[in-house]
Amino acid sequence: MNIACLGYGVVGKGVVEMFTNDSRINIKHILVRNLEECPLAVATLDIQDILNDESVDCVVEMMGGIDFPYHCIKESLLRGKHVVTSNKAVMAAHYEELLTLAKEHHVQLRLEASVGGGIPWIHSLLQQVRIGNVYRIEGIFNGTTNYIFDQMHTRHEEYSKILKEAQSLGYAESDPSSDVDGYDIQRKLMISSSIAYKTVVDMTKFTLASMRNIQLSDILYFEKYGFRCRYFATSFVEDGKYFGSVEPTLFEQTTQPACVSVNHNLTILYHDTLGVLQLVGQGAGRYPTANAVVQDILDVYEEKWSNIQMEKELTYDDSLSNTRLCICTSEEGLDVFDAYLVRKEQVGHRYYGWTMDLDNETKCQLVNEASKKDNSFFYAVVR
Ligand SMILES: NC(=O)c1ccc[n+]([C@@H]2O[C@H](COP(=O)([O-])OP(=O)(O)OC[C@H]3O[C@@H](n4cnc5c(N)ncnc54)[C@H](OP(=O)(O)O)[C@@H]3O)[C@@H](O)[C@H]2O)c1
Repeated sequence: MNIACLGYGVVGKGVVEMFTNDSRINIKHILVRNLEECPLAVATLDIQDILNDESVDCVVEMMGGIDFPYHCIKESLLRGKHVVTSNKAVMAAHYEELLTLAKEHHVQLRLEASVGGGIPWIHSLLQQVRIGNVYRIEGIFNGTTNYIFDQMHTRHEEYSKILKEAQSLGYAESDPSSDVDGYDIQRKLMISSSIAYKTVVDMTKFTLASMRNIQLSDILYFEKYGFRCRYFATSFVEDGKYFGSVEPTLFEQTTQPACVSVNHNLTILYHDTLGVLQLVGQGAGRYPTANAVVQDILDVYEEKWSNIQMEKELTYDDSLSNTRLCICTSEEGLDVFDAYLVRKEQVGHRYYGWTMDLDNETKCQLVNEASKKDNSFFYAVVR
């Protein structure tokens, strides 16, 4: 089978390397921005070389970004080429349109590497939705932020120091917003939830809380009560309605999420006959991610079709969620929550409060108000 690779970076190089001397797959083109990036003769600067080449069966998008990958994926599908992508940003932004286009043109659009890196998460979801219902998914979908929380707990260092270290290790980008403000996880939760519930979920409705205000003193406070903090995503369906959130969350130290170390991911699905399935592994990195892309390419080669469905109509419902919070703030921030607290404490200059169960609307209102009074306000859901 002839393939064309778009992008020759961390993931692209891994994929090309894994197909060296593999007689099943012939890499006909590699799209790069600069020919010096890639020493191979198949490198090209022009996407038209790929789109116009009728012998290319499958286009493998590994560039990142949204607009240009969208154009490349759409044009490939329109010309009857299968597409494999590792790009969650373009898929979350154009999920319904691109999958519909693939169906209409009788080609595959596969996206295993876009969520969970090397963990066969999308594969597991697609297998389980063939029979019965997945009604809840949750987990740790971002290795960079897990590394930050995990190392803050393990080594008792401040957020800024661990973030710099994550950047020097290549885990975090120089602008870390997409990781630490939750947008990367929001996109992964959108893709996973849409597949799990056979619909197209609206990710802008998810409750999203940044982790960037976490302080070492908060971590020490959580530990005093036997908790560890993780950046956790959850979505579930009930009676034709769904809810989703991405929030720092406290787990008792012996539980599975609390034990997910360094930059590993944890993905969990709840199914009405299987029960609970938990997968732990490398959510990023050259070879784990390339492995997921290669699995997708081989499935196209072996004519194994993935069947992503979108026919269910579900509505978003904020009132499905009730959560308890631990808030970390100033005296003014604490006052906002006063009527809802079951316990409060002061440690140095920081005030801590534990809330009763809050419905999501009340929670979001209180969080907004407290954040206005205290720009260092942080909260975690208590599980
Ligand atoms: N790295 C991971 O562990 C991982 C894990 C899961 C998913 N992903 C996803 O996989 C995708 C690729 O990630 P990556 O880490 O491999 O990124 P990367 O190292 O930055 O590689 C992307 C490559 O694509 C090239 N590129 C970008 N725009 C291009 C264009 N218009 N024409 C030609 N080449 C272009 C870039 O060239 P320039 O350097 O010149 O811009 C770069 O060489 C992203 O969507 C990412 O979210 C990555």
